[in-house]
Amino acid sequence: MLDGFLILHSRRSSVVLELLPGEAPLWRYWGPRLPDAASPGTPLRDTRPLPSFMLDFDQPLTVAPTFGVGWFGQSALLAHRDGQDFAQAFTGCEVEWTTPGAAVVLHLRDDVARLRLDLSVALEADSDVLLLRSTLHNDGDTPLDVQWLAAGTLLLPGRCDAVRSYAGQHVHEFLLQVDPLTRSLWRKESRRGRTSHDCFPGAVVTTPGATEDTGLVFGAHLAWSGNHQQTIEWLHDGQYQWQMGEWLAPGEGRLAPGQSLQSPELVATCSGQGLNGLAANFHAELRRRLDWPGGAMRPRPVHLNTWEGFYFDVHPGPVKALATAAAAVGIERFVLDDGWFHGRHHDRAALGDWWPDATKFPEGLGDLIAHVNGLGMAFGLWVEPEMVNPDSDLFRAHPDWALQIAGRPLLTARNQLVLDIARPEASDYLFEKIAALLSAHPIDYLKWDLNRDFAPAGLANGTAGYRAQVHAAYALMARLRAAFPAVEIESCSGGGGRIDFGVLRHTHRVWTSDCIDALSRVDIQRGFLQFFPPEIMGAHVGTAPSHTTGRTQNMAFRAAVALPGHLGVELDVRQLNAADTAELRGWIGVYKQLRDRLHHGRVWTGDAGDGVRWQFHADEAGEAVSDGVLIALRTRPSDHRYAPTLRLPMLDAAARYRVREIRPDGAAPDAREMDGAWLVHAGLPMPRSHAETAFLVRVERV
Ligand code: GLA
Repeated sequence: MLDGFLILHSRRSSVVLELLPGEAPLWRYWGPRLPDAASPGTPLRDTRPLPSFMLDFDQPLTVAPTFGVGWFGQSALLAHRDGQDFAQAFTGCEVEWTTPGAAVVLHLRDDVARLRLDLSVALEADSDVLLLRSTLHNDGDTPLDVQWLAAGTLLLPGRCDAVRSYAGQHVHEFLLQVDPLTRSLWRKESRRGRTSHDCFPGAVVTTPGATEDTGLVFGAHLAWSGNHQQTIEWLHDGQYQWQMGEWLAPGEGRLAPGQSLQSPELVATCSGQGLNGLAANFHAELRRRLDWPGGAMRPRPVHLNTWEGFYFDVHPGPVKALATAAAAVGIERFVLDDGWFHGRHHDRAALGDWWPDATKFPEGLGDLIAHVNGLGMAFGLWVEPEMVNPDSDLFRAHPDWALQIAGRPLLTARNQLVLDIARPEASDYLFEKIAALLSAHPIDYLKWDLNRDFAPAGLANGTAGYRAQVHAAYALMARLRAAFPAVEIESCSGGGGRIDFGVLRHTHRVWTSDCIDALSRVDIQRGFLQFFPPEIMGAHVGTAPSHTTGRTQNMAFRAAVALPGHLGVELDVRQLNAADTAELRGWIGVYKQLRDRLHHGRVWTGDAGDGVRWQFHADEAGEAVSDGVLIALRTRPSDHRYAPTLRLPMLDAAARYRVREIRPDGAAPDAREMDGAWLVHAGLPMPRSHAETAFLVRVERV
């Protein structure tokens, strides 16, 4: 703390708050790193005379702006007690440093409205990520109804001019939307009960001229798998405030006397190195918190997932034959998708009955798993624990276990209902059923699905259950992980409907999209990589033509697009012709050689123009890259007779590099040595090639 200012520094960013007696700290700065001793010097109010026709009291943006006592903007808290205490203002703030200079808890209290707000603020030294979380306590003797509690409020400089958010739908996640920032309120919210396909809980705010690699940009993401809301609001000093938090359904924020409400965590970061710099910060932060079995990530095994190969038609004979063929192309983990459990022959029945279907697997799964293990592959299994079909033994026994509202119809989606897993008996049932499978067999992986939105989401007592459901899902995952610590979990939700830092506290991979058309995946994966690192990005080589788009791409393009993620294959390998089988085996070999390089260090994405999109995965030794893999994807025919070069701005202009094309056939074309400066400024010569082709290059410092 410096002269009434509270200052936090990380490697490349700083936060400055102004502490004042009897009120909440004022926001003064969030941006690139300031020198240790830098401070605003002057209290904010001394620098801005009161404008005309205003309150005779100046209320600037605080870390937790509240409604009704002089702040007219968006409030971080909306609450009342049966109509009373509708306005709040903090009357005191106690500062508790948890890590000096880096993490602090601000204990705010409102003695009039009888509530306290603990706001934790931490700036992570290495990732430059700012973590905010709010916990509200009801100190009164009557219930407090909370309508909105921001996880955090961020200050954005006035020169910000655009916001990049992600819309989408099933089979089209991470659809980029760029909106100008103006004096109009910018707001996004989702009330579907899950992270959602159509409203990713996060965004990126840019300043004029920011590019992939340059310029000041800000990003924020809510680590939460339920309803959410974010708002950016222009302020009267020309700056903006950005709030993000859980969207509470009516009644969900009711706090009995003495009760507390904790918000999800807000994960924010800024970078002076454009969108790729921002992505690197988010990646570093997620890597810091992923909870791997054994404490560290093992090389990501190549998957075979049965879904698009077999759909529900999983019978031991063909599945074993597929496993044999899969092992022969180099698959390392075989994942049995939907269709294996009691009565599951289509999507109209069986969810909830989590034991092997006796007609398909009369002896259980043991024989199949032994076959898979015998081929040297690990075994994974698909489940969708939070769901139930009306046509299931579970629902017939416990119709009251589905979320519902008395007097209203049960609304199905994909013929299924949402189980009320906040009921201990329902989550105990699921734990026992899944634990029975995991205890009986060497299953090291669960693909955990969630295939519908929540409506109506009524709990047994008739109140809204969105929030309870998310906490119960996290608790069930945590309980299973504690009991079976070697098991990894994939978060799937009709593809990418549950991808967030919240679920990733308990999981290790996400299914990015049910669309595995490689061309569609170029954009989907690029949006994903803005927030999440490649090693958790489920990316599969699918069938041609693609089942979701009807488009056909050659094996090389399909493989190259999937390669940088957590690679898998999702087709019946037995149907491939000899050439495609050999090529797929070659690409899997390339993946195994490169995965250590692809899944650690930094990722840059870029657009070289003329339809060429690229990704560069490299170490980051200081500012100078010494080893990287370039994946250049030509998405459409060139407009030129000669292919334009591709610049690699992240390389060290003072170094020399060995440049070698990577081929799946094992052929090692001659390496060339090139000047870093040439690659940075003039660019790498590119081959002339057809649309939907890939060019891969290893770039190593000499
Ligand atoms: C969802 C998933 C798919 C597959 C099916 C099974 O759609 O995203 O990958 O697991 O469910 O029903």
